[in-house]
Order: sequence, then structure tokens, then C-alpha cells
Amino acid sequence: MWRKIQSDWPAYLLALVVLLVIVFKISSNHHEKVLVSLDDSIWHAPSLYLDPIKNKQERELITYGKELIIHTSTYLGPKGTVAQISNGMNCQNCHLDAGTKADGYNFSAVAANYPLFRHRSGEVESIYKRVSDCFERSLNGTAPDSNSREYQAIQAYIQWLGKDVAKGNHPKGSGIKKPNYLKRAADPDKGKKVYAIHCERCHGTNGEGQVNTENTGYIYPPLWGKNSYNTGAGLYRLSNFAGFIQSNMPFNEVTAQKKLTDEEAWDIAAYVNSQPRPIMKESHDWPDISKKPIDHPFGPYADIFSEQQHKYGPFLPILLAKEKN
Ligand code: HEC
Ligand code: HEC
Repeated sequence: MWRKIQSDWPAYLLALVVLLVIVFKISSNHHEKVLVSLDDSIWHAPSLYLDPIKNKQERELITYGKELIIHTSTYLGPKGTVAQISNGMNCQNCHLDAGTKADGYNFSAVAANYPLFRHRSGEVESIYKRVSDCFERSLNGTAPDSNSREYQAIQAYIQWLGKDVAKGNHPKGSGIKKPNYLKRAADPDKGKKVYAIHCERCHGTNGEGQVNTENTGYIYPPLWGKNSYNTGAGLYRLSNFAGFIQSNMPFNEVTAQKKLTDEEAWDIAAYVNSQPRPIMKESHDWPDISKKPIDHPFGPYADIFSEQQHKYGPFLPILLAKEKN
């Protein structure tokens, strides 16, 4: 027996190396998750009450900025009292609790990381550029004037929120936790059934949401249709949508024990993002096509996978091919 092992050792060594490579591959699949939680300390947003801002002008500007994040539509929606530059949604619809909730697209990492080079534009982006992107995509509108009191207030609020985060840090809970990849493609038909159970009662049968009584904005924001985010928005990527809803939807009901399964989250994302919504021409996005995220739903791509597969998966083969290069 021992002699046999001795003579076969190259085969055993080879098997060991193969095993290590597989383990490494599997663990590196999770590196998107690791990237958003480099800093392990829990972030607490500063409080306007516990940590009052002494300078009156500054305090008023930041307070107004917070108000604009929460009630964007009141001021800047289709019936906005200041300007009409967005679709009726509020920043807070996605940046939950005024941009302070863990795993709810909070603003903790913005002040510490911008100006930031982003592959989507191929440029170093200012906070103004990033905020404008959400106006043009997530709120399917137009960028605010950078000198307007409204934009200045939004920026002051975001910067104040992140004031205690060290340069370059991403506090735990910034960004979004992505669900594990499925072996199969995400399935809109399955998603439709789960949507009816978990989402329809608030967001409506046709994803239209529910407007408030004054008709100036939404109680439940729309998920598709003409008043929803457009095809250039972050949520139009399946992994962003699936991650957001797994941590946060149904609204105020998610607990550690009770959340959508990976399959439910991906399938609902596929269903919602296969419905009609405003189209954004995004021909300038991703100037270096090899940097497109694996679930970016528009070609051309630097690999051989179809638009269909980049939109719905299965994503693991795309990821493995990417890592090989
Ligand atoms: C429909 C959802 C949605 C709405 C509404 C929305 N955003 Fe966003 N926003 C996102 C997503 C998703 C991301 C992250 C995108 C990504 O991963 O590329 C993001 C990113 C950002 C970032 C960068 C965050 C970071 O950590 O790098 C800022 C700043 C921002 N949004 C500001 C705003 C402002 C201001 C508004 C309101 C005018 C707004 N957003 C409305 C979905 C939304
Ligand atoms: C109890 C009502 C309720 C249920 C059920 C619910 N949501 Fe929401 N959803 C909300 C509210 C309210 C917001 C906006 C949160 C805010 O502004 O603070 C929201 C925001 C969203 C957003 C971001 C804004 C947008 O319109 O794009 C998405 C995406 C979303 N929900 C998806 C879902 C999905 C998918 C389900 C089912 C798994 C679901 N929600 C179930 C109430 C609900």
C-alpha cells in the first residue's frame, strides 16, 4: 500500500492542486461582497438631534437636504413646488431611511470615496455627477443645476452623513448584499407568482405603485411602467435589484429568519425587470466593454455570452470565464 502511494504521488499531488484551485475559485466568487465591507465597524449615521450642527446656515442647508432625499417628489417631482425634473419617486425609495439604513443603499461611503473613478463613465466622478446620474436614471429625469440651493443641500447632507468615515473606507452595510448566484437562469414566470404573494399588495398588479391622496407623489413607489426608473438605472441590473429586495422587501417586514430566498429574489428581479419601463439611451456607458459587470444587460461584450444570459444568467459561467482572463 505505502509503496503504491509512493509511486503514485504525482497523481495525488495533482489532485490536491486541482482541489485547491476549485476552492480558490469558489471563494473568489464572493469577492463582490467582500469589496463592499472592507471596514468591519458598524456605521451609525450622525443625528441632527444628538449631534446638532452649530452653524445655523449649515444646519438649515443640511436639514433641507435630508428633506429633499425623503420628499424629493414634493419639491422636484412632476408637480414639484421648486422644479419639475423627476418622475415622482423619492431618493429615499431606494436610499432607505434617508440614506442611513444598513444594506439599504446608504450614503455612508460617498464622502469618503468621491471623487471616484467609475468604469461606467470611464471618468473620475464628482458627487454632483453621481447624484445627477440618479436623477437621470433612477428618477428618469434631468440633472439639477449644480448651483441650485436644492443640489447644494443634497450634497451638504450626503457629505455631513459621511463626515466620520475615513478616506477610502466602505463601512459595513454600505452598498448591497448580493444573493448567491443560482445554477440556472432567473425565471420571470416563477417571479410573477412570487411577486403576487409578496409584493403586489403594495406595488400593484401592474407595478404601478400607489399615489398619495394629493397626487404629488407615492405611498408605494412604482416598480415598472412610465413613472419608474429607466433602463440605465442601477436597479435595472438583476443583482442590484435582487440584493436590494432580499435585504429590504416586503418593506419593514424583513428579519434574519424571514427574508426572500435566493431563488425568490432572483426570479422576482427577472420578472420586474422584464416589464416595460422608460428606455435610456446609454451609448456612452462602459467605454471599456471588458469592465461591464457580468449582469449588465446590454452588449456589446468582451466575452461570448449573449445579452439574454448577461441579463438573466446563469451567471457563474460568465464569472468563471471572466476570471480565467
Ligand atoms: C430606483 C432606485 C433609486 C433611486 C430612486 C435613487 N437612487 Fe441613488 N442609487 C441607486 C442605486 C441602485 C445605486 C448604486 C448603483 C450601483 O451599484 O451602481 C445608487 C447610488 C447612488 C449614489 C452613490 C452611492 C455610493 O455609495 O457610491 C448616490 C450619491 C446616489 N445614488 C444619490 C441619489 C439621490 C440624491 C437620489 C435622489 C435624487 C437617488 N440616488 C435616487 C438607486 C436609486
Ligand atoms: C408593505 C408594503 C410593501 C410591500 C409588501 C413591498 N414593498 Fe417594496 N416598497 C415599499 C415602500 C413603502 C417603498 C419605499 C420605501 C421608502 O420610501 O422609505 C418600497 C420600495 C421598493 C423598491 C425601490 C423603489 C422602486 O420603486 O423601485 C423596490 C425595488 C421594491 N420596493 C420592491 C419590492 C418587491 C420586489 C416586493 C416583494 C418582494 C416589495 N417591494 C414588497 C412597500 C412595500
